[in-house]
Amino acid sequence: MASFVVQGSNRISGEISIHGAKNAALPILAGAILCPDCIIHNCPDLSDITAARNILSYLGCETHREGNSITVKRGGIINCDIPDPLMREMRSSIVFLGAIIARCGFAKISMPGGCELGPRPIDLHLSSLEKLGVQIEEDHGYLNCSAAGGLHGAVISLPFPSVGATENIILASCTAQGETVIYNAAREPEILDLIQFINEAGGKIRVDSDSTIIIQGVPALYSCEHFVIPDRIVAITYLCAAAVTKGDILVTNMRPEHIAAVLPVLEETGCLLRQYDDAISLRLDRRPKPVKNIRTMPYPGFPTDAQAPLMALSTLAEGSSMYIENIFENRYKHAAEMVRMGAKIKVEGRVALVEGVKKLHGAPVECTDLRGGASLVLCALAAEGESRIEKINHIQRGYEDLEVNLSRLGANIKRSQDERNETEEENAQG
Ligand code: UD1
Repeated sequence: MASFVVQGSNRISGEISIHGAKNAALPILAGAILCPDCIIHNCPDLSDITAARNILSYLGCETHREGNSITVKRGGIINCDIPDPLMREMRSSIVFLGAIIARCGFAKISMPGGCELGPRPIDLHLSSLEKLGVQIEEDHGYLNCSAAGGLHGAVISLPFPSVGATENIILASCTAQGETVIYNAAREPEILDLIQFINEAGGKIRVDSDSTIIIQGVPALYSCEHFVIPDRIVAITYLCAAAVTKGDILVTNMRPEHIAAVLPVLEETGCLLRQYDDAISLRLDRRPKPVKNIRTMPYPGFPTDAQAPLMALSTLAEGSSMYIENIFENRYKHAAEMVRMGAKIKVEGRVALVEGVKKLHGAPVECTDLRGGASLVLCALAAEGESRIEKINHIQRGYEDLEVNLSRLGANIKRSQDERNETEEENAQG
């Protein structure tokens, strides 16, 4: 299995352009089965995107990547199910459910299991689809979902603004009969990007007031071309990489307004920020200051995906910082790995107390999840000595060429392939 070897203490300095948002591209790729063909630009080259293309191929679509653009030609859909191995490749394959039902009137998927962030139930996805006319039966670990009488509009009030459930409702209802209204919908930028994509394909969706989405079903979507928004979490990660190494960076091709909740927190740590239309520069010349209380919230609040990168910065702060994780039950697994590098972190339930230390030291650590893994790289960049970061497959789900980009920015980071483990793994799978 591949790992990163980092010799820490180099400053991160320079300019980085941000790639397209994985979490926007994935539901858009699912929505591609509703259009005869489409071209999706600014699609990052990541393992999760490959997993989505594998699902599209299984369903009967042709996909083709040229640079950062992916062309999807629907042709005739030949399968309306997602086999278990494809579901397991990526937890967010659940977002294909709404699109497949809309296209085929039927879908069969395996129940997505728990994941590294704790249990990730899909009750809101399923109860919402039922309101749209879907009958759901459990069958030996699979869900048989059928809309025999056709999908129809409905009024759906979400008890929690789930991102995935909102996306599934949008995908299932955009070609349903009549109007669907989602109250308390998620309003992450990635949701607005999905809505834009569907509208570019002839859909009729509007966002009324802050958290109500109104979907007027249309008979069919047309072919279209779409440009995916930049990845706000990747932008935050590079900003934190510069901050944690007392460096300076210009992050370009991004949308500063998408990370409005994070910028004041970075300022609180002492970072000097300058905001441009599509870029942000950051400099930190001193030890970071602690942050009072970071509470993760649905957008436009502080994003749960930014909790781990910010925590990397807090490990070196001049004082104690408090984090309260309100979105996922089990999102502090990286903390135990940071402690191996000399960080002082106490976790109790949803609260993490980080007492800043003067120095971190290199250590062997393991990625526990995507953002947690990236935050270990940040700690390693700042630490004295060598760190080996294992299980970087988690990181490759969401960061394109992370080690190449960080090297260009001054880091000493190399990817190493442990061939012994690789062979053992292949044998175990075989
Ligand atoms: C998406 C993002 C993920 C981000 C998260 C929150 C993708 C591919 N992933 O995940 O990076 O961290 O939004 O911003 O876009 N819940 C239920 N029942 C449901 C659905 C969700 O209880 O049916 C709970 C979840 O367990 C979790 C919370 O709601 O505790 C948030 O989940 P949700 O907003 O759905 O996140 P995802 O779509 O899974």
